Amino acid sequence: MKTTTTPSTVAHNAMPPPSAVSSARSSRVAPHSHIKGLGLTPEGLALSDGGGFIGQMNAREACGVVVELIKSRKFSGRALLLAGAPGTGKTALALAVSHELGVKVPFCPMVGSEVYSTEVKKTEVLAEAFRRAIGLRIKETKEVYEGEVTELTPAEAENPLSGYGKTVSHVIVGLKTVKGTKQLRLDPTIYEAMLKEKIVVGDVIYIEANTGAVKRVGRSDAYASSYDLESETYVPLPKGDVHKRKELVQDVTLGDLDAANARPQGGQDIMSVMGSLMKSGRTEVTEKLRKEVNKVVKGYVDQGVAEVIPGVVFIDEVHMLDIECFTYLNALLESPMAPTVILATNRGNAVVRGTTDVISPHGIPVDLLDRCLIVKTDTYNREQIAKVVQLRANVEGLKLGLGVLDRLAEEGERGSMRYALQLLTPASILAGLSGRNQIEVEDIGEMNELFLDAKTSARNIGSEGGFDGGRM
Ligand SMILES: Nc1ncnc2c1ncn2[C@@H]1O[C@H](COP(=O)(O)OP(=O)(O)OP(=O)(O)O)[C@@H](O)[C@H]1O
Ligand SMILES: [Mg+2]
Repeated sequence: MKTTTTPSTVAHNAMPPPSAVSSARSSRVAPHSHIKGLGLTPEGLALSDGGGFIGQMNAREACGVVVELIKSRKFSGRALLLAGAPGTGKTALALAVSHELGVKVPFCPMVGSEVYSTEVKKTEVLAEAFRRAIGLRIKETKEVYEGEVTELTPAEAENPLSGYGKTVSHVIVGLKTVKGTKQLRLDPTIYEAMLKEKIVVGDVIYIEANTGAVKRVGRSDAYASSYDLESETYVPLPKGDVHKRKELVQDVTLGDLDAANARPQGGQDIMSVMGSLMKSGRTEVTEKLRKEVNKVVKGYVDQGVAEVIPGVVFIDEVHMLDIECFTYLNALLESPMAPTVILATNRGNAVVRGTTDVISPHGIPVDLLDRCLIVKTDTYNREQIAKVVQLRANVEGLKLGLGVLDRLAEEGERGSMRYALQLLTPASILAGLSGRNQIEVEDIGEMNELFLDAKTSARNIGSEGGFDGGRM
């Protein structure tokens, strides 16, 4: 890791030399980036090590059942509560559920404390989250021109208004499909839309006949390169005629519809969205508006144009909600269009927020608890902690020397798994400072002198009866 310390001596306009550091830093490693899914077999049984998860088999299987129920739309309006000690993977489980559901099912995560805002009512925040978790798949058959762009030539003409410069009078676009080719002569506004979408020859596009909206589908696979990794999506040459009727599928959420109807004047492009944010702080979505949106949606569903896809609301640290929110949650759960709700908490018996004397399990009133399926997450043993630490070390690209894993697992068992995971990065920096690229046991030892785990810190405070600032 020497390259980081050498001062850069690159001349001004020269390309910087490719360094090993830049590629290593290419992705930020988030605490849950090793979680890829629940890691279940097709029968729904948990593998002891799968999808980035180690152990916690019961909870994973339970989540697997819930995923199946959500996919078959039998779980909406119900709640799953993940309860367990801190650092036992509750948040990770919820993320895994969202991975398993895929991108088509809306997943709306929030933290309990998000409801407290000075501008918006608590219940409003909850209601909005619920609306964002109901998806709507709208199928429309539209007349389109689709094909691979073979030609894109703007025809220029003298500008009639000023003597200088030229304007585009029309644009000639050639589109090719498997069946044939067609040359279109299009309006300059469509040319602008094409420039915005950065369309070049070789892209597969479609143009809606009525509106002139242009959509880029991808790059024709005739142009596919031999790179292994690319951001480009390659699509085959479209079949059929260039001019045809095509079924377009659009995924939106009820939340999107509410927001769009609350400020109907705005356009689609980013500037007008930004502008409307600036102007009015936050636009109000009233209950009346929601009802109206619901009515329209219901109409679409009855006609068979749209399909409702109930998604998931995930409320982490749910004990942060107060009694008003809990009551409202009960009501939301019983509304006809309710998504699945996943709650997570690490509290045992606690006072329900917003009351002075109601103590209840997990800080959740019993009437809501009664509506939940509860899944408990277990604490990990030393062996499992070691596996998770190893997994994280791999994700972060750290090498562990002999005995380091045992030592960290021991720390994890004594303190908490989070503490063991948190020691990894500083220890790697320490190893780097002493010119090694591998973490050794002594690095961990030194880290332990510098940093305390939660339990040790609490014990210190306990024995000294508080810090000086408190004693004054
Ligand atoms: N079974 C597991 N396999 C792999 N990694 C895990 C497992 N359980 C937890 N982790 C990882 O441990 C760390 C802590 O877990 P997580 O944040 O999910 O805990 P939590 O239960 O949400 O805790 P809290 O109650 O404090 O919110 C995360 O980086 C998570 O990805
Ligand atoms: Mg958590």
